[in-house]
Amino acid sequence: MARILITSALPYINGIKHLGNLVGSQLPADLFARFMRARGHEVMFLCATDEHGTPAELAAAKAQMPVAAYCAEMHEVQAELARGFRLSFDHFGRSSSPENHKLTQHLAGRLKAAGLISEVSEKQVYSNADGRFLPDRYIEGTCPNCGYERARGDQCENCTKQLDPTDLINPRSAISGSTDLEVRETKHLFLRQKAMRDQLRAWIKSKTDWPVLTTSIALKWLDDGDGLQDRGITRDLDWGVAVRDGENDWPGMEGKVFYVWFDAPIEYISATAEWAHKNGLGDAAWERWWRDDKGANDVRYVEFMGKDNVPFHTLSFPATLMGANFDGAEPWKLVDYIKSFNYLNYDGGQFSTSQGRGVFMDQALSILPADYWRWWLLSHAPESSDSEFTWENFQASVNKDLADVLGNLVSRVTKFCRSKFGEVVPEGGALGPREETLVADLTAKLRNYESLMESMEVRKSAAELRAIWVLGNEYLQEAAPWSTFKTDAAAAAAQVRLALNLIRLYAVVSQPFIPDAAQAMMAAMGSDDWSWPEDVQAALTLLPAGHAFATPEVLFAKITDEQREDWQTRFAGVRT
Ligand code: MF3
Ligand code: ZN
Repeated sequence: MARILITSALPYINGIKHLGNLVGSQLPADLFARFMRARGHEVMFLCATDEHGTPAELAAAKAQMPVAAYCAEMHEVQAELARGFRLSFDHFGRSSSPENHKLTQHLAGRLKAAGLISEVSEKQVYSNADGRFLPDRYIEGTCPNCGYERARGDQCENCTKQLDPTDLINPRSAISGSTDLEVRETKHLFLRQKAMRDQLRAWIKSKTDWPVLTTSIALKWLDDGDGLQDRGITRDLDWGVAVRDGENDWPGMEGKVFYVWFDAPIEYISATAEWAHKNGLGDAAWERWWRDDKGANDVRYVEFMGKDNVPFHTLSFPATLMGANFDGAEPWKLVDYIKSFNYLNYDGGQFSTSQGRGVFMDQALSILPADYWRWWLLSHAPESSDSEFTWENFQASVNKDLADVLGNLVSRVTKFCRSKFGEVVPEGGALGPREETLVADLTAKLRNYESLMESMEVRKSAAELRAIWVLGNEYLQEAAPWSTFKTDAAAAAAQVRLALNLIRLYAVVSQPFIPDAAQAMMAAMGSDDWSWPEDVQAALTLLPAGHAFATPEVLFAKITDEQREDWQTRFAGVRT
């Protein structure tokens, strides 16, 4: 048994996420967590809302709410939607938690002690019309790197380059739209990332098993042009983690908070502390996941995120943790593997939160159960390139894969058995050559599925799982117990017994993708044996003769053309 620490990029608090956000981090992370648990490993799976910084402040202002109240409310909304999608977090935390305030301040104190923080008198954009500084997203303009016209002060969404507000061409205030801006001096803390460049490069180069998408982005920001820049880690904002040096004040930094991208990844660790405290456990319970000197040596740490998050997770966050261990006294766990995703597009354009374009998590659940979405999104995850959601493709995949292949098998087998042998597993005879072939084929495909899941090949895993379902259908088609029954009832009984056992096996192996349907299949088989089919042949004899089962309701209803057309028009426009 291994210990696996899994984090999903933290969704910003500012509103309900769209399906593109979901498939880029939380959903594949959940798939991996579920699979690893199913294999018997000890898993700690964390996520949280990312509550600080300009996205939160801007959204609260728009909702005309105090920012703390806004965040509390939106956290509950996002937590409820996460439950709706069956995201199996061990804890869904908040970056505004007391734990995160404390740890962020602690790590800042460590970085200061390491000599890795400099106090810089910095030029910041000040808006005369708004009467305030405009950090990060409070300012928009044209990206100096790629020319994208709606780049934000902290990062260009289009080319992923990390920016400073003063880099933008034709800048304007995101609050008022005013271009009456000036540059003023104000003192800020900088993380001396440049000083850690060699250490970071050596660390990234040591990750030979990382996907090209991840390392190429990291090395690009490390080596390109003027290379890794020292980054400002404080802001002139009210909402956030106050700048302190561990327990102490930080003279000259009164009224400033840490930059959201400084405290947000620290919340991965703090969320584990929140989990421990919520469960009445002491600090040792979370430290054994995060501190090599406190038992985390054997932990494998995997992060899931969209490609725009990669620079922060390969450079800034590791720099924080490495820097905090300058004297070897605090060996924090660094990430072992980063699984990053491209973008999911929506019907010929981009999903966009700011423009309300696409399908959002609440809307998705209001029209269909979570499994339908999970299946489509995961089987079309934007891994090697961007991928696209279209309603036609969604309808076709759901109808073919879920209804025709899996659902149909379950319903045919249970209904046939009920009509000929009653709702109990019939007495089975010996397995013939056809069954032996099935066991061999299933075993081969299952071993392949396991290795694809272990290596987080999301799309390929889905395709292999589907192939595993198809084997069952083909078997049933060839064995044809409904014909066998006419001449040899005992042989038909053996075939049906095998097929019923196959349904339980499918529940176990499909559970990471479609947890609700898996539950329904398992419940219908009157079992709660979720043990992984290490030995397929043994797994296919698990339900004994005489064992009662139930014929389930339709597992997956087909999406009709009418429904598709209706949704297509309903979700064509812009969300208000
Ligand atoms: N909220 C960020 C985004 O949606 C991701 C934060 S990930 C973390 O792009 F590491 F900072 F937590
Ligand atoms: Zn750009």
